[in-house]
Amino acid sequence: MAALLGVLLAAFLAAAGGYALSLLHSFLWVPRRLERRFRGQGIRGPPRHLLSGNAADYRALHAAAQSTPLASFPHAVVDRVAPHYREWPKRYGRPFLFWLGPRPRLVVSDPEAMRAVLTDTGTFVKIGPGANNPLAKQLFSEGLVGLSGETWARHRRVIAPAFNMERVKGWVPEITAIISSMLDKWEVKDQARSEFEIDVNKEFHTLIADVISCVAFGSSYEEGKRVFQLQDEQQNLVLLALRSVYIPGFRFVPTKKNRRRHALNQEIRNSLRKLIEINGRKCEDSNNLLGMMLSASKNGSEFRMGIEEIIDECKTFYFAGKETTATLLTWATLLLALHQEWQSKARDEVLQVCGKHDHPKAENLSDLKIVNMVIKETLRLYPPAVLLNRTAIRDVKLGKLDVPAGTQIQLPVLDIHHDVSIWGPDADAFDPSRFAEGRSYHLGAYFPFGIGPTICVGQNLAMVEAKVALAMILQRFALVVSPSYVHAPMLMLTLQPQYGAQVLVHKI
Ligand code: HEM
Repeated sequence: MAALLGVLLAAFLAAAGGYALSLLHSFLWVPRRLERRFRGQGIRGPPRHLLSGNAADYRALHAAAQSTPLASFPHAVVDRVAPHYREWPKRYGRPFLFWLGPRPRLVVSDPEAMRAVLTDTGTFVKIGPGANNPLAKQLFSEGLVGLSGETWARHRRVIAPAFNMERVKGWVPEITAIISSMLDKWEVKDQARSEFEIDVNKEFHTLIADVISCVAFGSSYEEGKRVFQLQDEQQNLVLLALRSVYIPGFRFVPTKKNRRRHALNQEIRNSLRKLIEINGRKCEDSNNLLGMMLSASKNGSEFRMGIEEIIDECKTFYFAGKETTATLLTWATLLLALHQEWQSKARDEVLQVCGKHDHPKAENLSDLKIVNMVIKETLRLYPPAVLLNRTAIRDVKLGKLDVPAGTQIQLPVLDIHHDVSIWGPDADAFDPSRFAEGRSYHLGAYFPFGIGPTICVGQNLAMVEAKVALAMILQRFALVVSPSYVHAPMLMLTLQPQYGAQVLVHKI
């Protein structure tokens, strides 16, 4: 017995020793080595604390910036949403370096570097939101957003064709029907009062959830509602996890939140498995996303996907497809409600192209040029994906910089989209004419959907949904920003209005 206890104790001590050594390696040795290499090139940043890096400074900066809303409704939002992109370069220059725990974040912001990083996927690999914190991984699982290498390539081959423009255009009748039913409900409210207030952020989250369920999975929102509710709760827990430094192994500690995370994950996967079983039979031979993944899961297929992989992708699409597009529509509606001259121009165009009562048709969409410009300018000022991350997997030259392997590179989309050296002194102003036909920008200066091989696979769907929804809203309603709206954009995985998006709406 004593011998057995001795063996167990020795095994325990060896495991504890190994764990301590790996902590020392990742928290002390690696950061010091990387820091020395950056300092040698004159790259600076806020002084690093041994274990937490700059996590506390980062949190304090954000808490101060977000403690009050913006005074009016200007679009100079970088200082509030991502204050470190403005504060730290003032003190340490560009590019600059900061640390979240033991990992360095190199923030580079010139367009050529953006292009180079995002197109060289062999050197700069995607770090999914779960890479720094496994607790965040549950939201995206092992879907396209978080994958890299061969598995990413195989999934992308199956999924990309499901979103090609021709197929997306084929979904326009379903999309217009869903939008029409939302607007019918707005009209009922309008009959009770000639003008009513609506939180468009809430409305669009439900709307887009419905569209994704229908066109990508062949199910209705009611069927998928439970998954969305659970994913909303999961998203809040992921946000909490992302705001703190992850200690290796912490996810196995049975805290109340960790137990809830685990339970949510199981329930979401089980719900999706059921949804796939019910809808899968209906759409196995159809051209929607689920149908294409199921066809690829058949034996003999070169790009075979297992059921667990399909579940991972469904989770990704529920999240990546809903949050981003709903956010785009929210900001676009707010901007049109604020900038009445653009609202009139866009409405005139819609009435000319689609008439007053007809739903937009796939073949009309390319004629909605002003609506398209409004959407593009919205994505510039309020990009749903505020930043992108990559990790250099080998030592590499980036312009004049020597980037050591293991460096995480942060590409500050929002900051670049508001950069006066690219967009001029009125960079913070809403001016859709920047995207008038014939005008173009450097690939790395405007990239709301990313660049290169990992460019957003759902871009066509998002643009079609946004165009059709804005056109149909403008046909039927006039919009004004409500006096109760508080302008407080905030990064909550995507760029959200912190207190909702209240708009006064009346039927025209
Ligand atoms: C306005 C709406 C949207 C915006 C702004 C947006 C933005 C982005 C961006 C910036 C990326 C690149 C991420 C990176 O390279 O690290 C991305 C990738 C992705 N997006 Fe979107 N997205 C939108 C809508 C959608 C929709 C509707 C779907 C699906 C239904 C979707 C699914 C995805 C997926 C799966 C990826 C990963 C692609 C890959 O790595 O191969 N997105 N999105």
